[in-house]
Amino acid sequence: MNAQENLFSRRQLLKSGIGFGSLVMAGGSVFAQQQERMTTPEVDLGPFYPMVKPLDQDADLTKLKGSKGIAAGTIIHVAGRLLDAKGKPISGAKIEIWQANTHGRYAHKGDTNDAPLDPNFQGYGVIKTDSQGRYHFKTIKPGAYPTGPSSQRTPHIHFDIAGIHDRLVSQMFFPNEPLNEKDGIFMNLHKYSAKVTDAVTAKLMPSTKEIEKDALLFNWDIVLSNG
Ligand SMILES: [Fe+2]
Repeated sequence: MNAQENLFSRRQLLKSGIGFGSLVMAGGSVFAQQQERMTTPEVDLGPFYPMVKPLDQDADLTKLKGSKGIAAGTIIHVAGRLLDAKGKPISGAKIEIWQANTHGRYAHKGDTNDAPLDPNFQGYGVIKTDSQGRYHFKTIKPGAYPTGPSSQRTPHIHFDIAGIHDRLVSQMFFPNEPLNEKDGIFMNLHKYSAKVTDAVTAKLMPSTKEIEKDALLFNWDIVLSNG
């Protein structure tokens, strides 16, 4: 059993419904509902995709190669599967993520937020999905950040996914986050339907012995139309 298999026990997968098509095409036929999953919505790229990538490029954002320091904040594991609309796993796809640190600051020249930078936080991660379409990042829970005198972005992680046929830019949100309802981007998605915001919101999973004490485990499955 590898690290990604270890993260979720079979019982957890069954309990959560992961892999059993709980998200279906709105308005589709009964047949389509059994066959098709809702494609993960596209969400703005945003202004902070790293112009200069960190030298350390891997799936663990909590530490930098050659440094003993650990990023500040709550450690989280974000893991899931990349699937096509028929539920077939997409292997070998490149998934990039970037995000604010625990203080709500991006390591990006264009970020004028005066919250502190974290010298131990990688801020960007990249991984290829395995033979079963799985990915797994270890990172920290991003902080919210201001976008104006009375507005802020709720915690989120940016994703850029290069599938075999499709490319998807999206954002992953956190469940039960009070700021979600005040976030313009989240609420714009919510206008379409609660299913749309559900599709970009990770699920908090029960902790497992494979992750650090006090760390949180989130599942987010991503669906590309054609894979
Ligand atoms: Fe952002």
